[in-house]
Amino acid sequence: MRILNAEYLKTVVKPERRECREIPEISFIGRSNVGKSSLINRLVMRKIARTSSTPGATKAINLYKIRYEFKDLRKWVIFSDFPGFGYSKVAKSTYSAWESMIDTYITENVSIQKLVWVFDIRRDPDTLDKTVFEWIRYSRLPFCIILTKSDKEGRGFGLSKKEVLRKEFQTNDIFVFSAKDGYGKEEILSHLFTSLLNHET
Ligand code: GTP
Ligand code: MG
Repeated sequence: MRILNAEYLKTVVKPERRECREIPEISFIGRSNVGKSSLINRLVMRKIARTSSTPGATKAINLYKIRYEFKDLRKWVIFSDFPGFGYSKVAKSTYSAWESMIDTYITENVSIQKLVWVFDIRRDPDTLDKTVFEWIRYSRLPFCIILTKSDKEGRGFGLSKKEVLRKEFQTNDIFVFSAKDGYGKEEILSHLFTSLLNHET
């Protein structure tokens, strides 16, 4: 399993109807500043996505085209890096703006195979996260959860957090990750590529 190439493809500011492409797509969603762009950079081992310590770094949907090798097959995938939501005091209105933008993008885009829902490992899910969960369920797309910034806590903490989220969001596809030291990278890539295996390209 390896990444052969990864490059910026395009930025979508206003999602159009039928954003359909030939290549399967995986979308990275989550609150602002949790580390979505850093996760993408670490997974592909290139600094293609812009990161920032100030929340709101990613303002539109940025698409990256990735060439990878998995189980002796060479394939393409698009990673879409979504803007974060819920960082300001007016979390509710930023969420509504986010939701209407992302909603159009996702409902019209049949290439999306999976949502990667990124969480800061130190935070507990709140009402907004539960709203996002409802939205994910409504989309009917397969999803996994990534608990990032795990370098900021002990490894045991990750295991107990996994259990909390497993119960809350009813999935076993939860991975502990750190963009800083790369912890969890191989497991996540293998999970993502395995879920793409049946998609014809
Ligand atoms: P928005 O685009 O604003 O929604 O943010 P984002 O979710 O893309 O977060 P981004 O990747 O820009 O990271 C936000 C900050 O967290 C940056 O200062 C990163 O360096 C830091 N960060 C991200 N992942 C990790 C991690 O695993 N460990 C540590 N220690 N810092 C991280
Ligand atoms: Mg970002």
